[in-house]
Amino acid sequence: MKCIRTEVIGCGHYLPAKVLTNDDLSKMVETNDEWISTRTGIRSRHIAADDEMTSDQGFKAVQMAMKNANITAEDLDLIVVATATPDNTTPATACKLAGRLGVKSGTPAFDINAACSGFVYALTMVDSMIRLGQIKTAAVIGVETLSRIVDWTDRNTCVLFGDGAGAMIVRASEGEGTAKDTGVLATKIYADGTQTENLYSTGGVALTKTAGFVKMNGKEVFKFAVGAMCEASDYVLNAAQAKIEDVDWLLPHQANSRIIAGVGQKLGISDEKVIITVDHHGNTSAASIPLAFSESVANGKIKKGDLILIPAMGAGFTWGGLLIRL
Ligand code: UT7
Repeated sequence: MKCIRTEVIGCGHYLPAKVLTNDDLSKMVETNDEWISTRTGIRSRHIAADDEMTSDQGFKAVQMAMKNANITAEDLDLIVVATATPDNTTPATACKLAGRLGVKSGTPAFDINAACSGFVYALTMVDSMIRLGQIKTAAVIGVETLSRIVDWTDRNTCVLFGDGAGAMIVRASEGEGTAKDTGVLATKIYADGTQTENLYSTGGVALTKTAGFVKMNGKEVFKFAVGAMCEASDYVLNAAQAKIEDVDWLLPHQANSRIIAGVGQKLGISDEKVIITVDHHGNTSAASIPLAFSESVANGKIKKGDLILIPAMGAGFTWGGLLIRL
């Protein structure tokens, strides 16, 4: 049966120029490349310059996505930014981007904070609005300047995170209602608010009037992540009536190569089909999925027509999944 689909018509990404290696970190805290790389798969991460804001990174990523989609700011009906590290407490980073891009006055723009699941949440919202016929073309951006909320004296967390941005331009198109359609085939989002203390920032506007630092119970996060990401993956595959064998790429939230390997094994997908960028991006939270997606399109890994399974999990806890055919 004919249906409205949300098609990805362009993507883009941006990484700050400064690269921080594990060896660099070993000069800042008591750690070493061997510990970090065997436990997390991370070798380096990008760090924003002092005067580089979340909106600056997002702007560069969305500009690239708009160029690849061959659209102008006039074409955009909505801007959504997924981030836990906005420039300001208010207004939303999406509004700052709208102003900078020069979109038509009146075009809605808002931020979503679902931590590392932020991009999955954002695209789920946008897909719903497109399928309801409320909008046609949207920019969906995942961007973080996590380096600002990392405690650079805490070796438990400072080795894990990085900065960066990714963006997708999506547009309403017509599909046949089958898993052969291009576009977003299924989405699912979840949360469990009973585990907020396992991954959180120590500050906040109402709590301390500061942003605070990221704290994490790594073992609890690890245990939860594999099951949650598999649950979301199974859900979206079933919803789209697709099978794991149909999937060309598993592109999970890039937190940790051991979590990613665990998800791949449990789902029964071979290693060659798993996209890993955590080695050179670190964990960029809401940016990690669109960043890995755009980089993989740019380097020719993900091709037109490929089916991509995208599970995520993050603070909240939040988790979710997307199934997209490019
Ligand atoms: O979006 C979700 C984001 N979160 C994640 O991806 C994290 C998921 N969790 C993990 O990946 C792992 O739990 C970590 C990589 C964070 C930690 O690995 P672990 O095997 O759970 O290590 P641990 O926390 O149990 O620490 C083991 C030891 C401790 O030393 P002692 O107490 O055994 O003497 C830590 O103090 O490793 C020590 N340690 C470090 N050593 C060197 C902790 N951080 C470091 C470090 N370098 N950076």
